[in-house]
Amino acid sequence: MKTKVIASVLFATALTATKPVLADDKPVTEQLVDTLTTLSGGPHAGFRANHAKGEMVEGSFTPTAQAAGVSKAAHFQKATPVLVRFSDATGVPNIPDADGNAFPKGIAIRFQLPDGTATDIVSISVNGFPAATPEDFLGLLNAVRDSQGSTAKPSLVEQFLGTHPAALKFVTTPKPAPVSLATQPFFGVNAFEFTNASGKSVFGRYQIVPVAGAQYLSKEATEKAAPDYLMNDIVERVKGQGVQYKLVLQLADSGDEVNNATVVWPDSRKTVELGTLTLNKAVADSKAAEKPIMFNPLQLTDGIAPSKDPILLARPTAYAVSFGRRLAH
Ligand code: HEM
Repeated sequence: MKTKVIASVLFATALTATKPVLADDKPVTEQLVDTLTTLSGGPHAGFRANHAKGEMVEGSFTPTAQAAGVSKAAHFQKATPVLVRFSDATGVPNIPDADGNAFPKGIAIRFQLPDGTATDIVSISVNGFPAATPEDFLGLLNAVRDSQGSTAKPSLVEQFLGTHPAALKFVTTPKPAPVSLATQPFFGVNAFEFTNASGKSVFGRYQIVPVAGAQYLSKEATEKAAPDYLMNDIVERVKGQGVQYKLVLQLADSGDEVNNATVVWPDSRKTVELGTLTLNKAVADSKAAEKPIMFNPLQLTDGIAPSKDPILLARPTAYAVSFGRRLAH
């Protein structure tokens, strides 16, 4: 039957010499949002298609003296106000924070620059990504979707993981529940190119390192954790003594892969501390405030440029699809 459909499409194409319009003839980025929405049991009107549950807070970023040597970007020269959104994975708006599917956690940071523009960092709590291209990521998500409710052995997702070692590594990487989002390290995953005032360029990946240290719950404590324990805790902490992270850049060695988010660079790579993120203010009515905001890893500023990583380059289009749908409700 499928062959027949394809054959008739090809035939029609030959006759009209125009591109056939198929129901699923959508850009991969839109198909990714569709599958994320299906996997979350959505659409959940007004919410993000991924990282739907979140909490926003505010604070500032203070650069180190070394930061200007790496990049001429304005926030690496002078202290800058920041808006931050922490999030749980998936498009499920009320997912319990300790649920296995709520990992990786997310942190989105918006630096509000002196000239009125902004630049963002959008990172997760795992170092690495399951796919090197948007097409492969869609393959993984669709395999998860199509395995649900199927008794096939091996399942489609097992078959996918069997032939995609990076995806297997990502899904089997332990993702323990943190004591607090203030004790959770985050990773930029995608590389960027940083250029300083003398024109010297380096490739690097962000690491966001909690000053309180990485601390995780025991298995028993994870099972007993309240559904909103992380989101409530982070708001309490910023209203109290505040929360701090070091923003660190892991530098690529000359042979390192900068365009493939599945290839994690070794811990032995040189790092530069770029500055300290201090979060000390909750955002009033975070739920309403987060809706009209789209964090964008390619909202950059002079002194920071994207790598050619296809995952990085696909993200803004996928986010814009999700954003457009969110605003329509
Ligand atoms: C092709 C790969 C990816 C796709 C299709 C994708 C998809 C999405 C979508 C649809 C959203 C919702 C955006 C919005 O509505 O505003 C989102 C949010 C997010 N993504 Fe991705 N993503 C991808 C890769 C990544 C990577 C590599 C990272 C981190 C290194 C990441 C971290 C996040 C975070 C933290 C958020 C929440 C942002 C916020 O708080 O507003 N994503 N993603």
